[in-house]
Amino acid sequence: MRIGTPLGPDPTRVLLLGSGELGKEVAIAFQRLGVEVVAVDRYPHAPAHQVAHRWHAIDMTDPVTLATLIEQESPDLVVPEIEAIATNALTEIEAAGTTVVPTARATRLTMDREGIRRLAAEELGLPTSPYAFADTLDEVHAAVTRIGLPCVLKPVISSSGKGQSVLKSPDDVEAAWDHARTAGRVADPRVIVEGFVEFDYEVTQLTVRHAGGTSFCAPIGHLQAHGDYIESWQPQPMSDAAAAASRDVAGRLTESLGGYGVFGVELFVRGDEVLFSEVSPRPHDTGLVTLATQRLSEFELHARAVLGLPVDTALHSPGASAVVYGGGDMVAPAYEGVADALTVPGADLRLFGKPDATERRRMGVAVAHADDVDTARSRAREAAAHVRPVPAPQRAGRAR
Ligand SMILES: Nc1ncnc2c1ncn2[C@@H]1O[C@H](COP(=O)(O)OP(=O)(O)OP(=O)(O)O)[C@@H](O)[C@H]1O
Ligand SMILES: [Mg+2]
Repeated sequence: MRIGTPLGPDPTRVLLLGSGELGKEVAIAFQRLGVEVVAVDRYPHAPAHQVAHRWHAIDMTDPVTLATLIEQESPDLVVPEIEAIATNALTEIEAAGTTVVPTARATRLTMDREGIRRLAAEELGLPTSPYAFADTLDEVHAAVTRIGLPCVLKPVISSSGKGQSVLKSPDDVEAAWDHARTAGRVADPRVIVEGFVEFDYEVTQLTVRHAGGTSFCAPIGHLQAHGDYIESWQPQPMSDAAAAASRDVAGRLTESLGGYGVFGVELFVRGDEVLFSEVSPRPHDTGLVTLATQRLSEFELHARAVLGLPVDTALHSPGASAVVYGGGDMVAPAYEGVADALTVPGADLRLFGKPDATERRRMGVAVAHADDVDTARSRAREAAAHVRPVPAPQRAGRAR
C-alpha cells in the first residue's frame, strides 16, 4: 500500500459520505496517515467538514447527485458514515471499480432492517429475537399475534430509535403503527415486529476485518434512552461462554458482509445466550469510548483497515463515555463548564462543533479512563454533566 501526498498530483483520496461526529474522528484518523479527505453531508459545516481538505453539502439520498459528485472527486475509497445514502448508486460505483467500504452490498443490506435480519437469521442461522414484517395495519395485528407480547415495532428503514414503540397490549398496536409511519425516514410504511428480549445487558462487539484477518475489540456495554445511547463503557464483563458466542456471531456475520473495516455488531445477552440485533458496517457511536480505552480508537482501526494496513485491537485501559446533549434549541451555541469537565481525573472531551443544537441532539461526548469500569463511568458522567451548551451572545459576528 502506497499513500500519496494530499492535494498533490496523485493523493490517496477518501470520500466520506456522512460528516457527523463519527465521521469527524474517521477524517482525523485519515488525516494523520496523510490521506486526502473529502467530507460530504446534507448540511454545511457538519463536524467532519471542519477537518477535511474539501467539503460538500448535497442530498446523498439522490442517486444522480451522489454519482455526479463521486465522478467529480474520483476517490480511491468511498467511506459511508451514515445509512441514509442512495445505496444503488454505490453498487454502480463499486461495479465501475471504486472501492466502497466495506462493500456496496453491506451498505445496502444494513440500511434496511429486513435485509440484515434475513441474512443473519435465515441465511446464516444466527440467533435473533423472533420477528415478522408487515405493510398494513391488518398485517401488524397478525404479526403481533404471531410474535406475542411484549414486542417492539420499528420502521424497517430508520435509525436512532425513530418510529420505534414497545407494545405491551393489543391496544398499543394502532398508535405504534401510526408512530412508525409518521416518524420513519421514508414514505415506505414497512415495519418489523420483534419479540421483546429481556436481556441481562447489551453489547457492541466491534469487529475489524483487515488484510491480516478478523480482530475483535473488548466488548462495549451501553445504556440506551429515547433511541440513543447515553453512556458506554469497555470492557463489559461477560461470561467466557457469552464472550465466545459474541465473537462467533460477529465473526460469521461480518465474514458474510465482507470487505475491510470496523463493524459495530449489536448483541443482546441473556446468561450465556447471545442474540444478534443489528450491525453498523462502520464505527459505532457506543465505540466513542475507544478514544479513551484502546491504543487505536475504532476510528483509527477503521482508517487502517480500509487502507489495508495492520491493526491492533488491544485494550489499553478500562474506560467509559457519556453524551453531552444540546438541552434546547440554539444556533451556534457556546459551551460552559469545559474547564471543570477537564479537571475530572482521567477525563477528556470531544465537542463536535455542530452548527446548531436541539434538546436531544448529541453535541459532544466526555470520555474517561480509570482502573475499573465503575470509576470510569462516574468520571465520564461527571465530566459530561459539567458541560452546558448555552445560547451565543447576541452580537454581530466577528470578522473572519
Ligand atoms: N427486540 C428488542 N428487545 C428488547 N430491546 C430492544 C429490542 N430492539 C431494540 N431494543 C432496544 O432499543 C435499542 C435501539 O434499537 P435498535 O438498535 O434496533 O434501533 P436503532 O434505531 O437502529 O438504534 P441505533 O441507530 O441507535 O442503533 C436497542 O439498543 C435496545 O436497547
Ligand atoms: Mg441499534
